[in-house]
Amino acid sequence: MWTVFLADDEATRALGECIGRAARSGDVIAAEGDLGAGKTTLAQGIAWGLGIDEDHYVNSPTFAILQSHPGPITLHHLDLYRISDEDEALGLGLDEIIGVEGLSYVEWPSRLPEIAALADLRLRLTYEGEGRRAELEGRSPRGVLWRTAIERAFINAANEAQAAPPRAR
Ligand SMILES: Nc1ncnc2c1ncn2[C@@H]1O[C@H](COP(=O)(O)OP(=O)(O)OP(=O)(O)O)[C@@H](O)[C@H]1O
Ligand SMILES: [Mg+2]
Repeated sequence: MWTVFLADDEATRALGECIGRAARSGDVIAAEGDLGAGKTTLAQGIAWGLGIDEDHYVNSPTFAILQSHPGPITLHHLDLYRISDEDEALGLGLDEIIGVEGLSYVEWPSRLPEIAALADLRLRLTYEGEGRRAELEGRSPRGVLWRTAIERAFINAANEAQAAPPRAR
C-alpha cells in the first residue's frame, strides 16, 4: 500500500492525472471516501490524464449510476450509492463494462461486493487537517504494477515542481 498527503484540490487532481496516464483499457478502481473527501475531484484529474476532452467531462450533479466519458480510453464513472442489487447492475449492462473496456472508476463500491471484487486498485480518501490523505493498494497483479507506476509518476512530478525556477510574473 502507498499513502500520500494531498495538501489541496490541485494535488488531488495531480494524483488523478498520474492514475489516468498509467491506466489501460479494462482497469478498475474502487474509490472509497466520505462525503466531500475528494472522489469527484480525483475523477476530474483521471479524465485529464486519460486524454478526455474537457467538453466530455461536464461534472454536473446527476443521479445516474453510470456516466461514460469518451476519449482515447473511456472513463466509466460509476456511483453505486443508490444501486439496489446485482440484478440492477446486470440490467445496466455493467458486466459488459467493468473490467472489460475503458477505465471504470467506482464510487461506493461497498454497496456491491461482487463489483468491488473486480477492482485492480483500491483507493481511499480521508480528511487530514486542511487537506486529504490518499491510500492506494494494488488488488490484482495488474493493480500492483499500476500502483507502482502511479507512485513513481506522482513523486517525479512533485520533485520537478519543486526544482522548477519561480515563474516570471
Ligand atoms: N486535497 C484536498 N485538500 C483540500 N480540499 C480538497 C482536496 N481535494 C478536494 N478538495 C475539495 O473538497 C471538496 C469536495 O470534493 P469532491 O466533490 O471531489 O468530494 P466527493 O468525495 O466527490 O464528495 P461527494 O461524496 O459529495 O460526492 C471540493 O471543494 C474540493 O475542491
Ligand atoms: Mg462526488
